[in-house]
Amino acid sequence: MNEQELQETARALVAPGKGILAADESTGTIEKRFKSIGVESTEDNRRAYRDLLFTTEGAEEFVSGVILYDETIRQKASDGTPFAELLSARGIVPGIKVDAGAKPLANAPDETITEGLDGLRERLVEYRLLGARFTKWRAVLSIGEGTPSEYAIWTNAHALARFAGLSQEAGLVPIVEPEVLMDGTHSIETAYSVTGRTQNAVFTELHDQRIQLEGMLLKPNMVLSGYESSEQASVDEVAEMTLRCLYRHVPAAVPGIVFLSGGQSDEDATAHLSAMNERGPHPWELSFSYGRALQAPALKAWRGDGANVEAAQRAYYQRARLNGAARSGSYSRDMEEVGAAA
Ligand code: 13P
Repeated sequence: MNEQELQETARALVAPGKGILAADESTGTIEKRFKSIGVESTEDNRRAYRDLLFTTEGAEEFVSGVILYDETIRQKASDGTPFAELLSARGIVPGIKVDAGAKPLANAPDETITEGLDGLRERLVEYRLLGARFTKWRAVLSIGEGTPSEYAIWTNAHALARFAGLSQEAGLVPIVEPEVLMDGTHSIETAYSVTGRTQNAVFTELHDQRIQLEGMLLKPNMVLSGYESSEQASVDEVAEMTLRCLYRHVPAAVPGIVFLSGGQSDEDATAHLSAMNERGPHPWELSFSYGRALQAPALKAWRGDGANVEAAQRAYYQRARLNGAARSGSYSRDMEEVGAAA
């Protein structure tokens, strides 16, 4: 394993002012997103949409890496350049989602285990040849009556560490993503305790399975009030509770923490990240690896129409720019107006 290469890639992904675009929606998920804008999910529409994102001029000022899906890493831009090559040429590191999705966990109604370890070693070799330099694996835990169970937390943590070890062996930086969903009526205190239990299990497994912490990134949820809770925590509370949780569970050897947006509004995801960075410096870089919070306005502007590509690219650039500002805690809500008018 080339430890130095892993560390350099990990650090490049959390370079100051930059973060990651998660464009690794599986075929099922992108179909849902397209349905919301009335676009049919054909292979060519999916390709055209990713083309629009990846060719957005200037995005590389704020985007260090892009997570691709299996289909996408095999596709080409409109000018015939493979997407991974196009991104690398612009100084954006290509990555790949390698899990096979969350499936029902045996003997645990309503809980899931993320699959995809069988044959992973061989798939990683191929992805590296296709240009990937980092990987992502997402575990999903939900807060409910008696859930998540310790059983679901620890089996998912074990699988995350198996994935991380195989990725590092292949020279790929693993993005370890234990997502606690924020759907439900739970309080922010409950989210804090479940997120802490989860991160504790994940770092125990990473340690036991000899993962090089300097050559990985953590992709956690922020600690929020349940989306259906009548009491919603303020931006300051979210920033403070999320930071407290991370300080207690994430070793300083980890170079960066790249949050998922998890269904927050675009503006909230940016404001929360900015508030955390305002309270820095921290032992790790605090950055983003957003899917919906970077893409939602672009998707809405595009609506599958080639005539809207420019407007969609402007919308994506604007979100990337504002999240870039949040990396140094210098975002404010009034910047939303300025960009929209520009
Ligand atoms: P969201 O930011 O939309 O939660 O997506 C990030 C991601 O990659 C989930 O696996």
